[in-house]
Amino acid sequence: MKKTKLRYDRIAILVLIVIAIIWGIIEIKHIMYTHTYEYKFLNKGYDKETTNYFIKLDNNKKDYILSIDYNENIKNIMEQRYFMWKNLDSYISYYDKYKEKSLEDVIAIINVHADKDWYDKDTIKETDTSLKEKMLVNKFYYLPSNYDDNLDIATVKNWYAYGEKKILNEVYQMYIQMYNAAKNEGLNLIINSGFRTNKEQTDLYDERKKMKGTEYADLYAARPSFSEHETGLALDIFTPEYPTTETFESSKEYTWLLNNAYKFGFILRYPKGKEYLTGYAYESWHYRYLGLDLAKKVYESGLTYDEYYAYYIEG
Ligand code: DAL
Ligand code: ZN
Repeated sequence: MKKTKLRYDRIAILVLIVIAIIWGIIEIKHIMYTHTYEYKFLNKGYDKETTNYFIKLDNNKKDYILSIDYNENIKNIMEQRYFMWKNLDSYISYYDKYKEKSLEDVIAIINVHADKDWYDKDTIKETDTSLKEKMLVNKFYYLPSNYDDNLDIATVKNWYAYGEKKILNEVYQMYIQMYNAAKNEGLNLIINSGFRTNKEQTDLYDERKKMKGTEYADLYAARPSFSEHETGLALDIFTPEYPTTETFESSKEYTWLLNNAYKFGFILRYPKGKEYLTGYAYESWHYRYLGLDLAKKVYESGLTYDEYYAYYIEG
């Protein structure tokens, strides 16, 4: 009788030990699971699909997402074509504020700093002039003072331009090729404005401002040190038959330039409908020299140069 009781006691102890071990294993497994990214993302509120999407990222990116507040838009933001990690915080807060905007626009706006006020003194930056014809000059990236001191400027006259115009020599050589190609198709290009000194840009801007006010001046003219014309890389191109900013778009030359200028290294710099990114009203006449390779890439991307630069060059 005593022996049987002892046996039962032993069995009971054994069962308890087994239960304790199983419970311990389950508990340890759970503790280990709470240290996985899957648990952390789910625990933060992300659904299974988003969690699986995040899990494939590098650990430092996973940690970053975990370090910021839950946001239902992160995955959609990350899936955008021109998404950049360094801007994730800004995309999130801008999209939260302007929900009516498309995500594509939000990405573009943040990438080119167009969420900031134009010419904001805390945002503007001296441009990297070592990039030469690839440099970006816009309402944020300005030229250093005396930038134009050592430029190789050609004086252009006769049939290539109205009166005498100044152009960077390298750009002039490419313009002549473009001019001749257009001529072969019975078209006439003519330069209205090429290189401008800082003083000339100042006078032009001030004159516009005096005539029509700051808002108008800022839509069509760059403030001094912020103009592509001061680099010698920009040309305002018209045709004698349609020589004004209002009429040029109706010309064959306009259409030809739109489709062919990139073959000579030029791109239309301020396209229609992109004012919110470039900061300028549509200018059907303002072409920017970028060099053959880059102009082709920018043309094919369909991006403004501001967007292209932000994503592919500045990175
Ligand atoms: N018209 C262009 C924006 C300039 O002044 O540079
Ligand atoms: Zn221009």
